[in-house]
Amino acid sequence: MMTSKISRMTWVAAFAALLALAILTACGPGKTTKEPPAAPTAAEAAAPVLAPVPPMGFNTWNKFGCNVDEKLIRGTADALVETGMLDAGYRYLVIDDCWQVSRGTDGRIVADPERFPSGMKALADYVHAKGLLFGVYSDIGPKTCAGRPGAAGFFDIDAATYADWGVDYIKVDWCHCDDLDAPSEYARFRDALRRTGRPIVLSICEWGRNDPWTWAKGVGQLWRTTADIGDDWESLVWIIGANSRHADAAGPGGWNDPDMLEVGNGGMTFDEYKTHFSLWAIMAAPLMAGNDLRAMTDETKKILLNKDVIAVNQDPLGVQGRVVIERGYGGQVWMKPLADGSKVVAFVNYTERELAQYVRWSQIGIPSGPARVRDLWAHEDKGVHADTGKHYDERFEVKVPAHGVVMVRIWPGQ
Ligand code: GLA
Repeated sequence: MMTSKISRMTWVAAFAALLALAILTACGPGKTTKEPPAAPTAAEAAAPVLAPVPPMGFNTWNKFGCNVDEKLIRGTADALVETGMLDAGYRYLVIDDCWQVSRGTDGRIVADPERFPSGMKALADYVHAKGLLFGVYSDIGPKTCAGRPGAAGFFDIDAATYADWGVDYIKVDWCHCDDLDAPSEYARFRDALRRTGRPIVLSICEWGRNDPWTWAKGVGQLWRTTADIGDDWESLVWIIGANSRHADAAGPGGWNDPDMLEVGNGGMTFDEYKTHFSLWAIMAAPLMAGNDLRAMTDETKKILLNKDVIAVNQDPLGVQGRVVIERGYGGQVWMKPLADGSKVVAFVNYTERELAQYVRWSQIGIPSGPARVRDLWAHEDKGVHADTGKHYDERFEVKVPAHGVVMVRIWPGQ
């Protein structure tokens, strides 16, 4: 009796010591756990895929930074419905950094009581009542990038809290984590989410520092491939180049994330924002609007609500489009195959002047002969055939404005 009591106490003490050590060392310098992500169990393999197509929604960061409160979130939820954004597919309403201020004595994370006086559960209920899904933000490390409490040492308690609130999506950042092993840390976070039994999309945000395109599928549903986007053309060009290198990794269930949209934030021209949106669509990138949805101009609505372009992004085949022609003079031709056998082509102009560009059917895998063409920005059908006289050699030719795009969908044999 005595022996078993002592050994039980020893075990309890050893377990407590291990737990304390785990909490103390989590995200501390020098920790280099190298566990590979666990293989899925049969039940997990049979579970519904959380993001069969790229997630769409809204995130507060690009426009509002730390200036978030429940009024903004409720107003944005209303706007998502009233503007037709929800109908167009934007379902996730995500609060980024700065909603959290501390932890209670029970270890549970505390939302800023001045900015979110009704509490996060009530806010999630409001968002859900609109037919939307609710998302929050955290960080693998002890603090978020804006210095708020992070998840280190609290993965399970946070996951349980988020599940209680009704969270459907969580973006998890990587500040203060430089010495950690990203694959195993994010897998631990995924496992904590799984233990809640609630399906929650995990958005991995380590900025492509640890080659997430090699391990993140099966851990999260989307993973950032680059540093933060800026609301300017140079940033856009740089991000497109970086994200385009990992097309092989994307597919139903897991997507390269070149960061949230800047469309409507004022730093780029109408043509530049059209290029931004077109390339996010053709790269099968998550479409997370980052502008003030309560005050959109008609131009911004024309972009974010372009259903022809959104259909390219949300196509169930789930292929990330690629550059098929690199023109030496500042033009690119991109192609993405869609589930119905059509191909989407985007002609991009990186120069400061109008550029004529063309593509031949043979360059995009379309069999020789007639093909029907639709312009996805002009919303016009253009019957194109090798014998029309206007187009020769089975090619389609366009004039692309400076920093602009022409995007078409081509159905072979029609
Ligand atoms: C990092 C992320 C951004 C944003 C901020 C919040 O920079 O990459 O997208 O979440 O943190 O602090």
